[in-house]
Amino acid sequence: MRELLGSALVVALVLACTRVTDADECLNVLHPAMTARIQKDVAWLDRAGGITDAMIRNISLLCDNAIRWQCNVKAVRMMIKDGEVYLNSLHPDWRLGPHELIGFLLELYEASKMYKLPDVEFAYNGDDDVMTAVEWKDEAALKPAFHGGPFPLLTWSKGDDSSGMLVPYSGAFRCADDSFDAMSTRLEDFRRVPWSERKQVAFGRWNEFCALYYNALQRMPNGREQPCPRNYLSQLSDKNLELLDVGVMLEMEKKGRVGHVPLTHQNVYRYLVSTDGWAISSKFDKYLLLGSLVIKARSPRYGFYYDALVPDQHFLPCMNASNDDVLERIKWAKEHDAEAQKMAEAAQAFAVKHLHRGARLCYYRTLMEELGKRMKYTPDCANRQLCIPLGQFLNFLSTYPKTRHTCPYSQVLSQYGFNAELEAGKYTTESITALLKQEKYWPRDTDIPPLTYQPYFPRRLRRRGLQARRRQAA
Ligand SMILES: *[C@@H]1O[C@H](CO)[C@@H](O)[C@H](O)[C@H]1NC(C)=O
Ligand SMILES: *[C@@H]1O[C@H](CO)[C@@H](O)[C@H](O)[C@H]1NC(C)=O
Repeated sequence: MRELLGSALVVALVLACTRVTDADECLNVLHPAMTARIQKDVAWLDRAGGITDAMIRNISLLCDNAIRWQCNVKAVRMMIKDGEVYLNSLHPDWRLGPHELIGFLLELYEASKMYKLPDVEFAYNGDDDVMTAVEWKDEAALKPAFHGGPFPLLTWSKGDDSSGMLVPYSGAFRCADDSFDAMSTRLEDFRRVPWSERKQVAFGRWNEFCALYYNALQRMPNGREQPCPRNYLSQLSDKNLELLDVGVMLEMEKKGRVGHVPLTHQNVYRYLVSTDGWAISSKFDKYLLLGSLVIKARSPRYGFYYDALVPDQHFLPCMNASNDDVLERIKWAKEHDAEAQKMAEAAQAFAVKHLHRGARLCYYRTLMEELGKRMKYTPDCANRQLCIPLGQFLNFLSTYPKTRHTCPYSQVLSQYGFNAELEAGKYTTESITALLKQEKYWPRDTDIPPLTYQPYFPRRLRRRGLQARRRQAA
């Protein structure tokens, strides 16, 4: 017991050291390229005349056509008012469990308790890759694919065409046993394998997720489509095992090679290969901590801090010149061992300085302040169908069977508690459970009456509605 308490204390101390309470300190831990990223992401709001009530209400229209399936997964509507965070829509029960949404909620709640966040409304992408509905069809004219217009959607992974605004992948940073935060308390362990003893092989294990956008969007310098790294590099590895030991975990086992290797043991390899799947890889941030050289396959997707990383300084890119160039990178690293080591150390130093919890909370704070500056109205729960206080919801998640083990809620709830009186305490375990059971629950706050495409409108009725509209048009 005493030992347990001891290690809890150590964790608490480490976290306390990374707590950033001062605004100037926030500027210090936020790399300038991260601050610039926030500015870049919110810039379109200025051209749109700021965040308006109509813009936010229109998010309700998401269920109408483009992504009427799972609209309640792809966007979770949120409000901050008088320093309290509220949920204006909910994930359905079947989607609750993974840490993508929950880690974000916990981290935003923590930021709201540490800082006075402005009144603001936005939505959060509760899936992995951000939906195509928010990609610009015509950026100059501020027209996204979504017919209801652009709206602020926070996401942890996106590409250049997206109107989304980047935030940390908080779930991967703080929830799992091998989260970034957990790993950053173990740097001494990782350093116990000295550089010179690490195997001069490039290692990587992943699941086989090959996003469509690789082949469709990403061209190699020779004009051909970029193959999906998770497939392609596996095949390349089979022919070059002495240099490259990467592949899909399950396939490796079938081939009699080692499948799963815990992240915290991968520092026995001098080089680590990172590939993206549907969205950015959640392993990339953790790889930066391990003190090995990271070789990253080029990808059209990026996360909140990627602008701050410099190729050839923090990592080596691959699949940027040719499909097989990873082999040249490994050979280069072997021949330039001191330079490779310097890069690995720079990556680790970067991650330690700019990605810890305090830095992430600073990022949330700065983003919220920038959104707050662009608000054109005062949000109010009275104007929304649903307004669940986030503290109450987190408290619910912390005991709900599907979610209670998702993230260590107590880190935040025991420190800050929650106000059970907000919204007159009308959201109880029972009422939230009932809301979640409605698979297609999607509160509509829009003034625009539902036309042909009601959210989840039964197909038969939709056809009738279409006919009615054609008759009207005729
Ligand atoms: C809201 O959606 C309607 C219907 O698509 C559109 O005509 C209108 O311009 C949108 N308003 C805003 C502020 O985006
Ligand atoms: C690809 O990355 C390598 C290693 O950093 C770099 O030397 C090279 O210029 C890059 N090539 C292209 C086409 O971007």
